[in-house]
Amino acid sequence: MSTLSAQSSGQFSIGGDLPVYRLGFGAMRVTGDGIWGEPADPAEAKRTLARLPELGINFIDTADSYGPEVSERLINEVLHPYKGLVIATKGGLTRPGPSQWVPNGRPEYLRQQVTSSLKRLGVERIDLWQLHRIDPKVPQADQFEVIAAMQKEGLIRHIGLSEVSVADIKAAQKVFTVVTVQNEYNLANRKSEDVLDYCEAQGIGFIPWFPLAAGSLAKPGSVLDSIAKRHGASPSQIALVWLLRRSPVMLPIPGTGKVKHLEQNVAAADIKLSDADFEELTALSRLAANENA
Ligand SMILES: NC(=O)c1ccc[n+]([C@@H]2O[C@H](COP(=O)([O-])OP(=O)(O)OC[C@H]3O[C@@H](n4cnc5c(N)ncnc54)[C@H](OP(=O)(O)O)[C@@H]3O)[C@@H](O)[C@H]2O)c1
Repeated sequence: MSTLSAQSSGQFSIGGDLPVYRLGFGAMRVTGDGIWGEPADPAEAKRTLARLPELGINFIDTADSYGPEVSERLINEVLHPYKGLVIATKGGLTRPGPSQWVPNGRPEYLRQQVTSSLKRLGVERIDLWQLHRIDPKVPQADQFEVIAAMQKEGLIRHIGLSEVSVADIKAAQKVFTVVTVQNEYNLANRKSEDVLDYCEAQGIGFIPWFPLAAGSLAKPGSVLDSIAKRHGASPSQIALVWLLRRSPVMLPIPGTGKVKHLEQNVAAADIKLSDADFEELTALSRLAANENA
């Protein structure tokens, strides 16, 4: 019997009333290449989803556009009725083909996508619905207002944003309560540092996507590599631990379609970084970020 558990990552309460363990799961990788179509190994993808509650993971991130539709459908097939799980989804990106993502923030499109996600997930209300991208071709206020309306109608419990600036969050906060922000952030990419600081100050959950990346910091013989070796871990596990340590509002959602990788990612929650290792990695990642700027 495994003792692995996401519980070791600590808790965060999304919107003040949805407590989750901070180490969640990104369900983008239970789809085909280019996040398109069915996964290469559907049985393994389903086993991966089924393993989530056994590992204590109770926060799952998906989107209508993953597949498209495939990720939400598989989540329903394997995990419905979601006892104790918070399923967060997103809308606002269309998929003309593999690896192609085109924003569409027209209010009627956002409403249509929320309605479709409700059906696919088999729920009456979406716990956390995130605007995948603010569409630059549609007035921001139009996008925010339809989302606020859907929340008032009871279709959405909480609202999140994705790939936004502090100014975007402040604009949205005039229309609804923003409970999470999902931006790319990892040891090698800290362009959203100001957004993270703002989220922490506001008690907004920060969901860093591409959390396992460490770029050149993970080179053999590097500081990250030697810290990992000392813990008998991989550099990407240490990258996850660093994220969890970086802020109490950090909710990493590493994604995989493989049970073994999922278990490795959850095992990271048990690794304790010393203060010295944490500070050194923080300084090195800041340097790397400046070099890449
Ligand atoms: N808001 C946005 O715009 C946005 C954009 C991208 C992603 N996301 C969300 O963020 C989540 C995570 O992002 P991500 O998938 O790009 O990055 P990630 O979780 O950092 O990395 C996923 C990649 O690493 C591999 N992997 C996972 N665990 C591994 C392990 N233990 N050992 C070796 N390889 C491993 C996966 O392949 P295998 O399947 O082979 O394990 C996959 O190729 C997504 O699932 C999605 O929910 C959001």
